[in-house]
Amino acid sequence: MTKKRNGLPRLPHLLGIEGLAPDTVSGLLDLSESYIGQNRSLDKRRDLLTGRTVINLFFENSTRTRTSFEVAAKRLGADVINMEVASSSVRKGETLLDTAMTLNAMLPDTLVVRHHESGAVNLLAQKMKCAVINAGDGQHEHPTQALLDALTIRRRRGKLEGLLVAICGDILHSRVARSNIHLLNIMGARVRVVGPPTLMPTDVDRMGVEVHFNMRTGLKDVDIVMMLRLQTERMQGTYVPSISEYFRFFGLDQEKLKVAKPDALIMHPGPMNRGVEIDSEVADDLDRSVIHEQVEMGVAVRMACLEALIGTRRNAPPDLTTGALL
Ligand code: NCD
Repeated sequence: MTKKRNGLPRLPHLLGIEGLAPDTVSGLLDLSESYIGQNRSLDKRRDLLTGRTVINLFFENSTRTRTSFEVAAKRLGADVINMEVASSSVRKGETLLDTAMTLNAMLPDTLVVRHHESGAVNLLAQKMKCAVINAGDGQHEHPTQALLDALTIRRRRGKLEGLLVAICGDILHSRVARSNIHLLNIMGARVRVVGPPTLMPTDVDRMGVEVHFNMRTGLKDVDIVMMLRLQTERMQGTYVPSISEYFRFFGLDQEKLKVAKPDALIMHPGPMNRGVEIDSEVADDLDRSVIHEQVEMGVAVRMACLEALIGTRRNAPPDLTTGALL
């Protein structure tokens, strides 16, 4: 890896948090920090990516992540194309690799991909001639979410190291949990996962976390409480007896929060299901909930990731002698 500005190592793609060096994570967070002021000013646009093309390719529904990447790319001056899979050739049976070949031929600079299969984004990245950013693949990773969560925490607490973070709810199906566990471990925070046994991954003991099956012990003295949605779209069968019972035992409310540190921050990647994993009173508690701040930090983090990746790979035109695109 060669060095680029801010001492940030050049990354060919951003596919996950696993395996990143602490310096890379800090470098990306520092670069993100530098965009917060710009985003809060009236003139939000820079020309850093003028002439560059960013394609958002989302195979799964998304509101905040897709919009956030679009806003981020436009604020850096890039041309942004949103490919709606519902109206694309993927619906006509095109394979993922054929889609990659088609997109390669359009010479984009960055491809932002969300896909319902774990590993699909890595596969695409091997075939693309441009930088690829994983915007969430199955239950595997969602690196920019973990980075924006880390930025939110670091700005509020001044550090990540040594903090005690509880990630609560549907750990099994959550790419957000997985990316956060990697990042928090890399940066020296302590992680607890809290939820019913049915929603814990079988390899949870190897993830470098403390496992709790009830909120009373799981939230005790924590600095940060991260709540997760029940990812019903990834469930086959029944994982919780009923929604009301789930809320009673694992839904975050003021009562359960009492054992956490008095100034513990409340986080949620969204979309929230009020009355399922989180009570409205807690979600809207202006003193402790940083849920909207997470969304704001998301734009800054995605600007930093686009800056860090763009130009790291040259998108070579197709070989006209053989017609090969890959
Ligand atoms: C998360 C995701 O898609 O993994 N949401 C997000 O990116 N903001 C979490 C979720 O869908 O529950």
